[in-house]
Order: sequence, then structure tokens, then C-alpha cells
Amino acid sequence: MNIVVLAGGYSPERDVSLSSGSLIANSLMRSGHRVLLVDAFLGMEIDEGVNPHTLFRSLGDAEYSYTIPEVAPDMEALKKLAYRGSLVGHNVLRLCRAADIVFMALHGAMGENGQMQAILEAENIRFTGSTHVGCVLAMDKDITKKLLAAEGIPVAKGLTLDLRKESLPDEHPMPCVVKPCSCGSSVGISIVHDEAELQQAIGEAKKYEDLILVEEKIPGREFSVGILDGKALPPIEIIPKCGFYDYKNKYQAGATEEICPAQLTAEERARIGELAEKVARVLRLGTYCRIDFILHETEHEFYCLEANTLPGMTPNSLLPQEARAAGIGYDELCETIVRLSPEVE
Ligand SMILES: Nc1ncnc2c1ncn2[C@@H]1O[C@H](COP(=O)(O)OP(=O)(O)O)[C@@H](O)[C@H]1O
Ligand SMILES: [Mg+2]
Repeated sequence: MNIVVLAGGYSPERDVSLSSGSLIANSLMRSGHRVLLVDAFLGMEIDEGVNPHTLFRSLGDAEYSYTIPEVAPDMEALKKLAYRGSLVGHNVLRLCRAADIVFMALHGAMGENGQMQAILEAENIRFTGSTHVGCVLAMDKDITKKLLAAEGIPVAKGLTLDLRKESLPDEHPMPCVVKPCSCGSSVGISIVHDEAELQQAIGEAKKYEDLILVEEKIPGREFSVGILDGKALPPIEIIPKCGFYDYKNKYQAGATEEICPAQLTAEERARIGELAEKVARVLRLGTYCRIDFILHETEHEFYCLEANTLPGMTPNSLLPQEARAAGIGYDELCETIVRLSPEVE
């Protein structure tokens, strides 16, 4: 097949995305596809008169590699490079239309909030992962929790505040976790142990969004469960060497111990798998996704924190590790995701 791997984009996580996009592209090429890695924001210049179909033949078998720079991208400087002020780069949709399928390797922002999916759906372009509806539901942690609670899936109790018109009531959980409603990668999240820390945590979350969640801190071990084709993969336990699973502990090599398959009883494994499959169904998530949980240390029940519609996809990311534990290697995983993606009419 001719495949566009869509990565980068206008997001603080663009470098992580370009790095995993390169690895996905190389993997798909090993499986015999012609692949173009396209930056969703910067796009690609194509000479006048060139048929984009031919690019898969001329460029589609080069090895990709991308090293994540040490500094985060300068978003203001990047914005100046926008093609006609759009978040979608020059020729991006033209290349996507020319492909048999678009592999979504974006992280954060428009890759996960459903915007890009909505554009591809409107263009009748086949793509991997969840539809725009699933992305919208999963990106919003307030909506996610309300839908899951209505289906009897345990979620942390708490409140959602619109800081433009509400302030924190005296009655609130403590210890608690303060988080922006629609970010990822633990951005803007603080764990709060006493009232003194609370205002600073709210200020931190507000940097990113006016809508914030203040929820009870669930004490216990943390797990994540990948879903592939509606079925749970073996769960992975996440043990940060210090602090909680924040941005640094997510992306700094060696900062977090990851145990897969997680050491759980057969009964616990069945329970977390059943809950994860249900979360994916309730939120209408697609071919693959990953659901985060904490096993409450006294209640012995799994609390769902959130769902990830475009989980990390380097060979060492959580979901590929879980797939490996189920006997599905990285190349087979990428190929399976392509194969299972729904056809367009
Ligand atoms: N209610 C909670 N209780 C305990 N820890 C939490 C809670 N909510 C979040 N965390 C911690 O913060 C991390 C990030 O929170 P999460 O809701 O998964 O957002 P993100 O989209 O940023 O990954 C989790 O992996 C967990 O370590
Ligand atoms: Mg998470």
C-alpha cells in the first residue's frame, strides 16, 4: 500500500511524534509498503506538475530517522512557519488523498482532539486509530469521567471548575490531583497534599486551560492497558523512581520502571482487562488505544484515570511493550493497525 505517516504537527509534543513516526514509517516499509513521512504542520513542497502518487515510488523507500532535540520546540517561532495561517501544512491533504491510508502518528493537540480526524473524515480519507467522535470524548477528561461513571466504571470523585466564572468551593477532595481538562503527557498536573499547595496547583493548570479538574488522589499502584481490536493486551505496571508519572518520568529514559506483564492475580488481570475493554466501547475508541488505571490500595478496585486515543508508538512505548508480551512484534503491530482500520465508502 501507499501510506502517509502523519506526524509532527503544531504541538509541543511534535518532536516525540516525529521520532515515533519515523520508526512507524520504517516498520511499514519493512512490511513492504511505500511510505511517506509527512509533517502535518510544515507540510511538503511539491514541484508544480508532479503527481503526488509518484512520490511514493520515488521517495517511499528511504529510511527515516529523527533525533529528539534536547529543547522543546519554540511554539511562537514555529507558528510563523504556518502555511497561510493554517495548522495544516502545504500539500498535506493532497498527499493524504493520494495515499491508500494515513497512519496517525501525531501526539497531542489536533492529532488527539479529533480535529485532524474530522478533516480526514470529511475528505473521505482512510486513517488509523479512533474517529473524531472518540477523540473528542477521550480528550475531555470531564466528559470521559461522566460517561464512564454512568456506565459503572470507577473514576476519581471530584469537581470540574471553569476558572473564568467559578472558584474552588470549601468542600473539595484532599489530598487531590489538579489537572487541566484536555491536556496530555501530564502537562499542568499537580498532586496536592495540603491546602497550602492548592492555589499554586490551580495556577499551574490554568496556564494551559480555564477548565480544570480537582479530583481525589487515588492511592495505589498504577497500570495501563492497551486495546487492540477491542481486546485488552496484557497490562503494564508503571513505577516512577521518584514522584508521580509526570512529563519527565514519562519521557526520560530510565526514570520509570515498567513491568509487563504486570504482576497481578489472574482475577485482577481479568478485571482490569474487562474494564479497559468497556472504557474503549463507551468512549467509542477505534482499532487501538490505551487506558490508564490506578488499583486502589484499600478498596482493591481499579479506578480509570483516562483514555489515550493515540498512545506512544515507539517500540519501547507502553502499548508496543504490551503487544510484545502478547506475542505481537512491533512490525506485526503496525501492520495489524493498518489492516484493521475501517475502509471508507
Ligand atoms: N486521581 C488521581 N490519583 C492519583 N494519581 C493521579 C490521578 N490523576 C492523575 N494521576 C497521576 O497523574 C498522571 C497523569 O494523569 P492523567 O489523568 O493520566 O493525564 P495525562 O493525560 O496527562 O496522562 C497519571 O499517570 C498518574 O500518575
Ligand atoms: Mg495518562
